[in-house]
Amino acid sequence: MRAMVLKDGNGIDHLHLETRDVPKAGSGEIVVRLKAASLNYRDLAMVNGLGRSNPSAPLVPLSDGAGEVVEVGAGVTRVKAGDLVCPQFFQNWFAGGPTLPGLLAVLGGPLDGCAQDYIKLSAEGVAKAPAGYTAEEAATLPCAALTAWRALVVEGGIKPGDTVLAQGTGGVSIFALQFAKAAGARVIITSSSDEKLERAKSLGADATINYKQTPDWAAEARKLTGGRGVDHVVEVGGADTLPQSFMASRIGGHIAVIGLLSGLVKDVNVAAIFSQNLKISGITVGSRAHFDDMVRAIDQSGIRPVIDKRFPLEEARAAFTTMQGASHFGKIVLNIV
Ligand SMILES: NC(=O)c1ccc[n+]([C@@H]2O[C@H](COP(=O)([O-])OP(=O)(O)OC[C@H]3O[C@@H](n4cnc5c(N)ncnc54)[C@H](OP(=O)(O)O)[C@@H]3O)[C@@H](O)[C@H]2O)c1
Repeated sequence: MRAMVLKDGNGIDHLHLETRDVPKAGSGEIVVRLKAASLNYRDLAMVNGLGRSNPSAPLVPLSDGAGEVVEVGAGVTRVKAGDLVCPQFFQNWFAGGPTLPGLLAVLGGPLDGCAQDYIKLSAEGVAKAPAGYTAEEAATLPCAALTAWRALVVEGGIKPGDTVLAQGTGGVSIFALQFAKAAGARVIITSSSDEKLERAKSLGADATINYKQTPDWAAEARKLTGGRGVDHVVEVGGADTLPQSFMASRIGGHIAVIGLLSGLVKDVNVAAIFSQNLKISGITVGSRAHFDDMVRAIDQSGIRPVIDKRFPLEEARAAFTTMQGASHFGKIVLNIV
């Protein structure tokens, strides 16, 4: 079988297609024939060597994929051969709140991920895909969609009439737009590109802000809410955007701190947090139970992921280069079969 492996250093040029043996399922395990995988910003960071616990060990990247169960080991009853499943981002976080052991076993680093033809997993480490989804649609869900779901629904308790501010038009933010609209919320979305903002409007965005043309986008968001501020911020921007997210929020608003696109460290205005009674949630994707809840919501709402660009597995370098260029809107997918 084929596996795209990061080896002999970090960086997109260190991705190489290798031949490996097809794995065999042991007791309690399954083998999944992966059909598609998708890229997340985290995967790009891993390929570039950021956050790798063992930077010199070879790694099959990509946390997110989907495929068909082709072999089940002794004692497996959760899934059966032929099921379309999504390997879970956290292989050991099944339900309840996050715990340290639950957050350690992550596909695409430190564990080998989905940029390969077959993957062997614990039968507990997968969830069924939404009904009627193609493999490439299902492959977009485990990290980006689940993060947006947890930010807005699990931690944010979104309700009809709320206003959500989503930053940029990448994978997490476009899912946030879709879940927010399905929940009956109003969405303000930012982007560096007017063309992408037009695409966001066609998905239901109610108001748009070009954050390059309007660097003080928080003031603009506040204006768009009649001075009240937004109920939820899907904070993917990191260091440069967090201070403005405080200013864009209503009194008692919720900020889901997710990303680091503009960097990691910034002075924090503590007074802005307490004087506005902000609720700040740190988010690391979600559990398998969160994923199952999200799939039920997708089945009901009919949300389909926005797949902007597709590449075959052997062109993974081109896919990562595209993500690095940030020209995409929504998701970038690798087709494996
Ligand atoms: N904590 C978690 O559990 C978790 C889970 C998933 C992702 N993340 C993090 O969330 C972030 C987004 O991930 P992703 O996979 O959705 O990324 P992505 O698909 O690569 O999205 C990148 C997009 O973000 C926008 N962007 C970049 N810099 C920005 C800035 N300073 N302000 C506002 N928007 C900006 C740009 O949109 P425009 O081109 O429209 O401007 C860019 O195209 C990353 O930092 C990632 O590591 C964290």
